[in-house]
Amino acid sequence: MIIAIDGPAASGKGTLARRLAAHYRLPHLDTGLLYRAVGAALIEAGLPLDDSAAAVGAAESIDLSRLDAAALSRHDVGEAASRVAAIPAVRAALLDRQRSFGHGGPGAVLDGRDIGTVVFPNADAKLFVTATVAERARRRTAEMASRGLHADYATILADLERRDARDSNRASAPLRIAEDAILLDTTNLDADAAFLRALDLTDAAL
Ligand code: C5P
Repeated sequence: MIIAIDGPAASGKGTLARRLAAHYRLPHLDTGLLYRAVGAALIEAGLPLDDSAAAVGAAESIDLSRLDAAALSRHDVGEAASRVAAIPAVRAALLDRQRSFGHGGPGAVLDGRDIGTVVFPNADAKLFVTATVAERARRRTAEMASRGLHADYATILADLERRDARDSNRASAPLRIAEDAILLDTTNLDADAAFLRALDLTDAAL
């Protein structure tokens, strides 16, 4: 059983994917972490983010069991991730890893940008989670402030708009809703209401 959750940055798709995975007792893969790991490797090596050979090398050497979500959550790493994610060879190198995560066991919940369109076009349930960019910026600002980090709403809003544009306009696997995905707009839902709605929609699709 494969559940595909896609959506833009800070839409809440990660939290929903984690909670759905716990509910269905399936493993969960946040595929953004793979692109983040590639971006982080290039930053660490002091290499330009358009060095596709180095980026593919980093993608091939990722160890799924050793991805450190906390270390990869840095803002500059997210930016770098979205840059290397536009390189087709990087996407190709990560495709099999994502597919093998889903195959072989009871199934999986994967969240990202292209799970329902490219990675698992035959997923059993596909959700496209979104919210207005203003609401996503508000949530991201509050979440950063709650972690004691400096958070400026206007900067975060501009960053999200730039990342949305880059993810949606790239040639290779752009962010878009799959034809058979269910749209879940969480703009006016709190986290628990969004989860209950996601559960209803997923149950109905399975
Ligand atoms: O979801 P997250 O913010 O961690 O993703 C970081 C970046 O990785 C995104 O902005 C996007 O460019 C890229 N990504 C992708 N395809 C995925 C998951 C993430 O292109 N399936």
